[in-house]
Amino acid sequence: MNPVSRAELRVHGLSHAFARDEVLSGIHFRVRAGEVVALVGPSGCGKTTLLHLAAGLLTVQEGRVDNGFASTAFMFQQPRLLPWKTALDNVALGLKAGGMKRAERHFRARELALRLGLAHRDLDKFPHQLSGGMQSRVALARALVLAPELLLLDEPFSALDVGLKEELYRLLLDHQAERGMGVLMITHDLMEAVRLSDAILVMAPEPGRIVCRFELDHPPARRGDAWVYRHTAELLQTPEVRASFGLPAAVEAEGTGPAQRDGVLRPGGSQGGGRVEPLSGLRLVSPASGLVAVQGGKRCGA
Ligand SMILES: Nc1ncnc2c1ncn2[C@@H]1O[C@H](COP(=O)(O)OP(=O)(O)OP(=O)(O)O)[C@@H](O)[C@H]1O
Ligand SMILES: [Mg+2]
Repeated sequence: MNPVSRAELRVHGLSHAFARDEVLSGIHFRVRAGEVVALVGPSGCGKTTLLHLAAGLLTVQEGRVDNGFASTAFMFQQPRLLPWKTALDNVALGLKAGGMKRAERHFRARELALRLGLAHRDLDKFPHQLSGGMQSRVALARALVLAPELLLLDEPFSALDVGLKEELYRLLLDHQAERGMGVLMITHDLMEAVRLSDAILVMAPEPGRIVCRFELDHPPARRGDAWVYRHTAELLQTPEVRASFGLPAAVEAEGTGPAQRDGVLRPGGSQGGGRVEPLSGLRLVSPASGLVAVQGGKRCGA
C-alpha cells in the first residue's frame, strides 16, 4: 500500500469567461487525498470547464488552483482515443510516455483492461471497432493504469449499463482505498454521486457556481442499495438541488407523517440552507453562511 498522502487540490475564488460569457464565478473547494468528491449540476453549467481548469488544461483567468498531488490523471468526457492505435496501446499510452518498456506496459494495461470488463479480443481492436461503452472503459483504464494520486473524471460511467457500472464502482472504490488517491468526478447521476462520494458539490448555472456541499460520512463500501436510494431521495428533496436543476419545489406525498419522513432533508433553517434530520447520513453545508450547525450542533465547513 502507498504511504498515506496528505496532498490536496485547492481551488480558490476561481472565475472563468469564454469571450464575454461568464461561465464560472467564485468557485472554492478542495479535494484531499483519500477523498472522492462529486461535482453535479445541470448541463452547460461549467463542470467540464472547471475540471479542465483544475487539471491545468485551461489557463486560469481569475482565482487559483493549487494541486499538491504528485501525479494527476484525467479522463475526458469524450473518450478521445487515438484512432490509429489498438485499445491495448491506447490504455498503455501514458505508461509509454513515462518511458516504461513495451512488455511491462502491455502487461499492466492488459491486466487492468480485463478487470474493467474488456475481453482479450477487444484489446486488439481499433477505437472505431469498439462500442461506446468499451471506449469509455478504455479511457478509464488509460487513466487508472497510471496509478495517479489525483484522478479527475468527467462522467466516467455515463455510457455504461447498470451491471457494468456497479462493477466499475467497486473497482474504482477498491483502487481508491488501496492507493488513497483523491478523486474529483463529474456526474449527472445523483445516485452515482451518493453511491461513491465523500462529498457532493452541487452547481447552479449562469454563471456556474457551487450552491451547496453535502458530506456523506457512511463509508462507500458499506452503502447498500437501500441507503443509496434513501439518500438520493433526500438529495432530490433539497431546495438547492431542485433549483439548480430547474425542478419545481418538492411536494410531500399525501399522508406522510413525521415517522415516515425520518432522515429526509426538508426545507427550513434560518441560514438559507436546508436542515438535516437526526437519522440522515447527509450533511448540508450552506455556502451562504460558510458554516452551518447540523446534527446536534456538529459543525462542518466547505
Ligand atoms: N472552448 C469554449 N469556447 C467557448 N465556450 C465554451 C468553451 N467550452 C465551453 N464553453 C461554454 O461554457 C459553458 C459550460 O460548458 P461546459 O462544457 O463546462 O458545461 P458542462 O457543465 O460540462 O455541461 P455538460 O453537462 O453538458 O457536459 C457552455 O455554455 C459552453 O458552451
Ligand atoms: Mg461536461
